[in-house]
Amino acid sequence: MKNDLHQTHVLVIGSGISGLTAALRLAEAGVDVTVLSKEEDPREGNTLYAQGGIVTLGPTDSQKLLTQDVLSAGDGVSYPPAVKKLVAEGTEIVKTLLLEKVKVPFTTDERGELLYAQEGNHSRRRILFSKDQTGRAIEEALYKKVSENPHVHFLKGAVAVDLITTNHHSTNPLRAYEKPQVLGAYALLRAQGKVIPLFSRATVLATGGLGRAFLHTTNPSCTRGDGYAMAYRAGAQILNMEYTQFHPTAFYSSHMEDHFLISEAVRGEGAVLKTQRGRAFMEDYSPLKDLAPRDVVSRAIYEEMLKNDDAYVLLDLSNLSVDPKERFPYIYKTCLENGVDITRSPIPVVPALHYSCGGVLVDLNGRTTLGRLYAVGEVACTGVHGANRLASTSLLEGLAWGWFAAGDILAKDRLDDDLPFHEIPLWKEPAILEATDPALIVQDGKLIRSTLWNYAGILRTTKRLQRAKADIEYLKHRIDHFYKSTPLEDSVLGLRNIVDTALLVINSALRNRVSRGSHTILTDQN
Ligand code: FAD
Ligand code: SIN
Repeated sequence: MKNDLHQTHVLVIGSGISGLTAALRLAEAGVDVTVLSKEEDPREGNTLYAQGGIVTLGPTDSQKLLTQDVLSAGDGVSYPPAVKKLVAEGTEIVKTLLLEKVKVPFTTDERGELLYAQEGNHSRRRILFSKDQTGRAIEEALYKKVSENPHVHFLKGAVAVDLITTNHHSTNPLRAYEKPQVLGAYALLRAQGKVIPLFSRATVLATGGLGRAFLHTTNPSCTRGDGYAMAYRAGAQILNMEYTQFHPTAFYSSHMEDHFLISEAVRGEGAVLKTQRGRAFMEDYSPLKDLAPRDVVSRAIYEEMLKNDDAYVLLDLSNLSVDPKERFPYIYKTCLENGVDITRSPIPVVPALHYSCGGVLVDLNGRTTLGRLYAVGEVACTGVHGANRLASTSLLEGLAWGWFAAGDILAKDRLDDDLPFHEIPLWKEPAILEATDPALIVQDGKLIRSTLWNYAGILRTTKRLQRAKADIEYLKHRIDHFYKSTPLEDSVLGLRNIVDTALLVINSALRNRVSRGSHTILTDQN
């Protein structure tokens, strides 16, 4: 089979750590891979902005200790077999792939020995880092390696619109009696404004998270929940969407909607959270104080802000064990650009949406409930993170499941099966087209983001969630009409995906009356 624009062995949708790892393993085995990236620069995505690091086993560590820490952060909802596999095999992949093959420039001491960082709820120093831009170091090294492989074809500025399934798209009505299979995706080529079908024998969904469904987030603009929404529309099982993780320390500025992250590693080196009046408050909430799990710290900050009617709390770096300029140069520079010199002043911080612990349900090899569809990275729910993710385990999970999914595709040896691609029609444009109105798109997007933040945020009640559901369902109705009658553009696709993803979060949160991890529902207020 030729690796041309329309047909490939494996289609990987997304080029963060998880998608690139899957692509690399497949390509090195001689399989043709097409990697789709929504942006012109395939490196753009959450991976590029990761700061703190990637977890592995530290010098005085053990698999047992790391497993315990992941499970304790997950608050009883993590799936033990997945955690066990992550710890046993994932840490090996860091060594063989990231250190030995791709040669990520992790920070070392003057003798060239790797250094390990500390973050919340970790019982050991065990996090590999590259100053405070670990994600960039990993993404650039991986992207370089993958780009050099002749079996990989990057399709840049190409947005997956919907997965192609035998039961939804085939012109043969009898396909409805078979187990649904995914045969690729329809993709919008942004520069041409044209939608094409991309056929594949296996499809790997690696589209990252959903931060932009919330008003305040640490995530970049491409995190619109595209993958969750596409998988849901295709009929895949989705799980744990109520467990949306809020990072405790995003930079606060009254004129900034985008929140720059202040890494948990800063608290790992001794920074302390204080109220604006200078009181260290974390000991009131956890014996682990500032290094408690993220859900505990975020709720504590939120409560202190409510109690004191403050718009933010302060992160005091005056007793740091390292030189902040040297250890956290990116944070130092960005704070300075925003008027805060972290060598002299505390940093104003607030919690912001950071990560989705739930997602498209997959097994230990990344297989979803649909035939030929895999999901890896943040979009997937492996069960590792349960109700709350342990710091710096997301990059590891993306790496590991990207690797496992590729291994499963290779082992299945189904890449030469005869598949009914000929039954799939070309993309049909709607008969009547109305002009897109950017004002409507922007306003609807803002409404969804502020609704989720205010009604499905850090503290939830049934009443707030019901209100959110009613408001978002009303919007969905209008957005669906909009989607069917305007020329396809990335912004329209984004809006359609954000509204579907928002409803997945709200409906999961409404169904779950038990507060655990990052889902807190106040029962006495309904
Ligand atoms: P991403 O890296 O987000 O990549 C998703 C890709 O999918 C992108 O290429 C995007 O363009 C593409 N895409 C999306 N939709 C479509 C579509 N419809 N069609 C085509 N392409 C599409 N985790 C840690 O473990 N350690 C850390 O230190 C850490 N720090 C973080 C700091 C910040 C500021 C943020 C935001 C996150 C951090 N995380 C960290 C979380 C971690 O970075 C992410 O969970 C992880 O990188 C996700 O990787 P991924 O491969 O799943 O997705
Ligand atoms: C951070 O550096 O605080 C982010 C780490 C993570 O999201 O795991």
